[in-house]
Amino acid sequence: MTLWQGRFGDDRSDELKALNDSLGFDVRLFREDIAGSRAHVRMLGKSGLLDSSEVTSILDALDQVESEIGEGSFEFRPEDEDIHTAVERRVTELTPAGAKLHTGRSRNDQVATDLRLWVKSAIDSTLHLIIELEKIILRRAEADGHASLPGFTHLQRAQPVTLGRHLLAHGWALSRDFDRLLDARRRTDVSALGAGALAGSGLPLDPEVTASELGFDAVFDNTLDAVSDRDFVVESMFALSLLGVHLSRIGEELVIWSSTEFGYVRLSEDYATGSSMMPQKANPDVAELARGKAGRLIGNLTGFLVTLKGLPLAYNKDLQEDKEPLFDSFDTIGLLLRAVAGMIETLRFDIRRMAEAANDEYLQATALADWLVERGVPFREAHRIIASPRARSGGSSRPCDGRPPEKQAP
Ligand code: ARG
Repeated sequence: MTLWQGRFGDDRSDELKALNDSLGFDVRLFREDIAGSRAHVRMLGKSGLLDSSEVTSILDALDQVESEIGEGSFEFRPEDEDIHTAVERRVTELTPAGAKLHTGRSRNDQVATDLRLWVKSAIDSTLHLIIELEKIILRRAEADGHASLPGFTHLQRAQPVTLGRHLLAHGWALSRDFDRLLDARRRTDVSALGAGALAGSGLPLDPEVTASELGFDAVFDNTLDAVSDRDFVVESMFALSLLGVHLSRIGEELVIWSSTEFGYVRLSEDYATGSSMMPQKANPDVAELARGKAGRLIGNLTGFLVTLKGLPLAYNKDLQEDKEPLFDSFDTIGLLLRAVAGMIETLRFDIRRMAEAANDEYLQATALADWLVERGVPFREAHRIIASPRARSGGSSRPCDGRPPEKQAP
């Protein structure tokens, strides 16, 4: 039975079903959906729309549905369009009072509420993983932070920096990602339940009660906005995309640093792979995928932004397209954060190799110019003196191939 059988009968074309049904992916929302239904039913009881025995029997049925789905014994039916339909169908099988569960509610306010609950907890798990990665970066910076290496601009050796300062640069980017997700969480923390299909309900519902029961910080202000707003999906996918971009920069750096040419790090075998053909290879796959997955995260974000663009108020089925990219972005970032943390925790820095590179005397050019400045030479003049071919080659000119000159006899 479909939820709208009263109007259309029971037949649906295979194409409609294949295109329209979202159960395959929104089954992930079953706990949130059941939590939303519990809050809704209790509120209906308080408002006098259900009597206490109806409330109790629906709550019991919801408990049973939750354990059936949780343990895998729930029998989904072909007519279960989405998780909301499946739960309500089963509750109604278990108790006649189930027919009152959807009183004053629409799947439009229901799905928005479910998804907000899901995103809040997904953000919390991601925040936790960011802290874990930050802790590992901090530990490595504390242990080996005194080492020096060349800092780069344009991927050309620029000035020496300490490894600690370099590593913590990534740590600061991650701390902004943390803030951004926390900020997105604040706007996610708003209940949509009570907004109905788009215009609320003429029944005496109390959206404040359901919101506080579900642990939301606030209640919607406008019913049309409540059912059509997916800013919280976009904002969290943006915060995850930028976090992914930061992880891609760490990944790229480790690809470069682990190359034979650089040799600044050796990746643990647990985080590298061999080549099927070349026995000597240890490939930095985790680092490469940290770099590559950013494209997928950005694709999820831009794809859904395009879906939203130009949508008329209020709910449209296009909005069902929010879930797959959202779930994928949180799954992808969770995996990446764990993998990058493990890779950084287990890699070995070749501090000697870094120090050799940092001892390149060309890296002291700016310090030398500053030394002249302290002795009264105007900076532009000091820069010219140090940059002159004579100074650079220790007296003779040399081709600008980026290599230090041959040592000259004094
Ligand atoms: N599966 C739908 C979604 O994810 C639920 C809302 C359906 N609403 C409707 N008016 N058909 O968006």
